[in-house]
Amino acid sequence: MTDHAVTEEDIARLVPTFYERIRRDDLLGPIFDGAIKDWPHHLAKLQDFWSSVMLTSGRYKGQPVAAHVRHEQQMSKEAFTRWLAIWAETSRELLSAEAAAAFQDRAARIAESLQLGIQFFRDR
Ligand code: HEM
Repeated sequence: MTDHAVTEEDIARLVPTFYERIRRDDLLGPIFDGAIKDWPHHLAKLQDFWSSVMLTSGRYKGQPVAAHVRHEQQMSKEAFTRWLAIWAETSRELLSAEAAAAFQDRAARIAESLQLGIQFFRDR
């Protein structure tokens, strides 16, 4: 189901500003800058991801759990809390209240399932 409050323009505004803030964050910045060599590529991929999630565009093909399990030692509860706080702040500032709420709700649910996937990997 698509979310009618959300547009491609929202995604194009949200994703780059979010990662600018992530890179300036003292906890998350080093994790991302250590892992990501090609930022334009990452931003394009994440815009495809959110377009697939919110607008069912089908543009993203990937394995998000595997991508995070690769960095599992850095994927702490605190890191997820910080990620979601920056996501909430950025979406609130840039988008309509309705669109921001939709992105926040979806990110929280994906964060939950990523953490479960990482936990499953740790317990294996
Ligand atoms: C990719 C970090 C949370 C969505 C990545 C990568 C890193 C990273 C380092 C690059 C992985 C690689 O290519 O080696 C983190 C950290 C998080 C976090 C530190 C919080 C603790 C999230 C959340 C979402 C998300 C909550 C979605 C709501 C993605 C996606 C990719 C990605 C879609 C691309 C995966 C692919 O290559 O196909 N993340 N992430 N991340 N992240 Fe996250």
